[in-house]
Amino acid sequence: MQIKRLAVVGCGTMGSGIIQVAATKGLEVVGVEGTRRQAESARARLDEGLAATLGRGKITAEQAEAASTRATFTDNLDAIAGSDLVVEAVYEDVDLKKDVLGKIDKIVAPEAFIASNTSTIPLVVLAAATNRAPQVVGLHFFNPVAAMKLVEVIKTPVSEPDHVQAMVDFARFLDKSPVVVNDVPGFVGNQLIVPYLLDAIRAYERGVADMESIDDVIALGFNHKMGPFRLSDLIGLDIVHDMAASMYEEYQDPRFVPPVLLKQYVRLGLLGRKTGRGFYTYEDAS
Ligand SMILES: NC(=O)c1ccc[n+]([C@@H]2O[C@H](COP(=O)([O-])OP(=O)(O)OC[C@H]3O[C@@H](n4cnc5c(N)ncnc54)[C@H](O)[C@@H]3O)[C@@H](O)[C@H]2O)c1
Repeated sequence: MQIKRLAVVGCGTMGSGIIQVAATKGLEVVGVEGTRRQAESARARLDEGLAATLGRGKITAEQAEAASTRATFTDNLDAIAGSDLVVEAVYEDVDLKKDVLGKIDKIVAPEAFIASNTSTIPLVVLAAATNRAPQVVGLHFFNPVAAMKLVEVIKTPVSEPDHVQAMVDFARFLDKSPVVVNDVPGFVGNQLIVPYLLDAIRAYERGVADMESIDDVIALGFNHKMGPFRLSDLIGLDIVHDMAASMYEEYQDPRFVPPVLLKQYVRLGLLGRKTGRGFYTYEDAS
């Protein structure tokens, strides 16, 4: 099945990135947010993302303009009717996602696909909230979506090979490099990266070194683009917290318990780049 009409529900950091990439490739995309005001912010996020990609010389001004006009934003979920694929990218909260997926399931045609961009929640839990479990898959994009090539395509025990292939083809159409992964909490990427981020926070809490020094060790010593504190700020500290909590819930492994310092930052609303301050302070927050 070829995806011609795309909808994205939840147009924050990830959702707006997915919309940007799809609209740049020529798809008409409907973006749904919780309120009209949030829908307006989502439009602004898309346009900022396009401007940044234009600034890096990856697209022309005409392409940015055309992509912007292919996206529409609304707070009315009914606007997703007629979509071949709906990508859910709301907060990493299992009850919220189940509620949203159940609603999506009632609106779109029976043959449509529903994908979740969840980082850690088992797809089977989300699929069970719908009446189309075989057509519910994971499409796990990476942040920032416009720049990162990887998409983990998550299959469940009831995914048909042609469903998985349709999602692989869709990811390739977006110029991404899909990797098919089984439905285990955290999949491949977050199962490995989340304990690393949490260990870095615990090392700081134990007084091993300050945040900048820990970041420098990883960036300079291991040739990573950024260390764990800058990466956590990029991901969003609330998302790091929720990923950890969700994986702890599933594995009951103390490695996944969210550190106290992370909880404190989240409770203070210091969520990283997206709020202008997390472990570091950012001048150019969007
Ligand atoms: N941030 C990352 O690095 C990253 C990477 C890969 C996957 N993810 C996953 O993507 C999902 C979204 O993460 P994010 O970083 O974009 O979060 P975010 O907080 O930036 O965006 C979430 C958006 O969902 C919207 N929303 C909440 N409830 C809604 C509803 N009922 N209807 C419509 N919109 C609603 C919010 O208004 C917000 O704009 C999460 O599942 C997260 O785990 C995040």
